Amino acid sequence: MPNRPYIVGNWKMNGVRAMLAEARAIDRGAARHPGVKVAIAPPFTLIHAMAEDSQSIAVGGQDCHAKPSGAFTGDVSAPMLKDAGAGFTIVGHSERRAIHGEDDAAVCAKAEAALQAGLDVIVCVGETEAERDAGSAEAVVCGQLDGSLPRSESATAHLTVAYEPVWAIGTGRVPSLDDVGAMHRAIRARLGAIYGEAAASISILYGGSVNADNAAELLRADEVGGALVGGASLAAESFLAIVLAAEG
Ligand code: 13P
Repeated sequence: MPNRPYIVGNWKMNGVRAMLAEARAIDRGAARHPGVKVAIAPPFTLIHAMAEDSQSIAVGGQDCHAKPSGAFTGDVSAPMLKDAGAGFTIVGHSERRAIHGEDDAAVCAKAEAALQAGLDVIVCVGETEAERDAGSAEAVVCGQLDGSLPRSESATAHLTVAYEPVWAIGTGRVPSLDDVGAMHRAIRARLGAIYGEAAASISILYGGSVNADNAAELLRADEVGGALVGGASLAAESFLAIVLAAEG
């Protein structure tokens, strides 16, 4: 395991200011688990307040625009995230890829923009159920890595990859441990082919229906360096149980 286990909560489009109390509870709980790196990606509207409030967790965005500023109504740039107190951003989540039509090139441009702004970046990849059934899951994911990963100098020092099979997101279904391990080994190999030795420092997170009950097992699979958690990150109790599981 190259790094401390990394547990990231993706709040998606959930959370108004009343939810900051939950983030405070997560922050206090994370302080008791210094062996685990804990982060939350709340909606843009909560980033500043959550970052100001947090001592032990990192706070980040769920997406950013590829350009630093301009006539892009409704979008938020990486320098804006940084200015609001974010330390990282997620890019290429399957919901962005599917709902907003973001392809690998768009995700790569966003990742480069995040690095340029001084943010760490979590690049998401993952196959659909049809792709898995067709036996092409590894090929799809490796293709996404080839097209989406930033190549700028020292990218590896600021990069995390999240493997999230689309069919496991929000469904309560998870791949077998063998399948998780096989995919994570394939991702590790591809990272090595792309970045060489520097790839060893990149954590690979698993995401998709991670909860307090299955986290310990999933986190033991080969090359799993942490988890990207959706639903179970919205309550301190369930999220901190996953943090505890990560401490082993
Ligand atoms: P769930 O944990 O709700 O399945 O969501 C996973 C996810 O998409 C995190 O980015």
